[in-house]
Amino acid sequence: MFESLDALAADAILKLIAEHQQDTRAHKVDLGVGVYRDQHGRTPVLSSVKKAERYLVEHQDTKAYLGSGGDPVFNDQMQRITFGDASSGNDRITTLQTPGGSGSLRIAAGLLLRARPDCRVWISDPSWNNHVPLLGGAGLRLEKYPYYDAATRGLRFDDMMAKLATVPAGDVVLMHACCHNPTGLDPSPEQWRQVADLVVERNLVPFVDIAYQGFATGLDEDALPVRLLEDRVPEMLVSSSCSKNFGLYRDRVGVLSLLSADAKTNTAVRSQAYQIVRTMYSVPPDHGCAVVSHILRDKALRAEWIGELAEMRGRLKAMRRLLVDALGQHAPGHDFSHVIGANGMFSFLGVSPEQVQRLKSDYAVYMVDSGRINVAGITPGNVEYLAKSIAAVL
Ligand code: LMR
Repeated sequence: MFESLDALAADAILKLIAEHQQDTRAHKVDLGVGVYRDQHGRTPVLSSVKKAERYLVEHQDTKAYLGSGGDPVFNDQMQRITFGDASSGNDRITTLQTPGGSGSLRIAAGLLLRARPDCRVWISDPSWNNHVPLLGGAGLRLEKYPYYDAATRGLRFDDMMAKLATVPAGDVVLMHACCHNPTGLDPSPEQWRQVADLVVERNLVPFVDIAYQGFATGLDEDALPVRLLEDRVPEMLVSSSCSKNFGLYRDRVGVLSLLSADAKTNTAVRSQAYQIVRTMYSVPPDHGCAVVSHILRDKALRAEWIGELAEMRGRLKAMRRLLVDALGQHAPGHDFSHVIGANGMFSFLGVSPEQVQRLKSDYAVYMVDSGRINVAGITPGNVEYLAKSIAAVL
């Protein structure tokens, strides 16, 4: 049977992890996969996470199954972070624990297909590499709306709004709440208000992917699109991830929040979502979720985590500035100022796929073929080498 299967090319982002690991050049630089790194190039376990894990070792008294929706206490904490404290107990919202943000997206796709099999989902052009395989692979019909202008290296806000104004009522619009992947360009608060007005006016269904909450400006500020829409739309889907803001990448921690028009519909939606979970992976993984739940409920640990998050955010911003300053020296005449204004881990550098290949083969500098860089891979120790290498291929 298996002989009928063709070998497929590896995922573009995950492939870079292995390529970088196998590269023996000491000066190699990894600007590939979206994981945070500290000034030494390490992705440490957060101190708040370590402390919560120690607490769990001592106090967790069972690993018995949870239900398909996961732990209600964790779900409530996560919902408060994204929707705000007032959302707790809202009988129009169901939040369920999922295996990371990807698991959340996949359950959302299953639910949309059950609710409306011919449903169309509009995604930004470009969007996260895996949005199309994940959502399209689940069977959803995907369409694109303009987002990034390669010529100006800025947001195509007017084009995006013009396109969204033509999207039929009832279609789903996927939006990155903050730290847009791959461009790092987010609408301003005023622009988000305009997007929200349009979504309400045209009766579109917002589907918010919030994978980097806390990496742009702050926890509340980064949830702005959710907060602007929650009281104004009858339905919304929100996929949240704790991979980045808690550094729990491999533990697979996320939630899916579903807003329905009324409590009765919410009950039906919840039962459908639980059944999708039961038929896919039965119950969600829990260790990382238990860690997050403990951190969010423990005053001191929560404060420590918020401090660690602020430190990560600050380092990302500082590295953007450092790189642009170094490029100013080594590649004068080229404008990289768009990198400074962007949020979170990513920016398009503005290099061609051929230049990306040369950076990899000749200089051991790794980035996604699109020219997306993860600024967390920059350190004060490698920035000079990095800027010289980029200058050499321009
Ligand atoms: C990325 O975009 O690099 C991250 O979200 C990791 C991934 O799974 O692609």
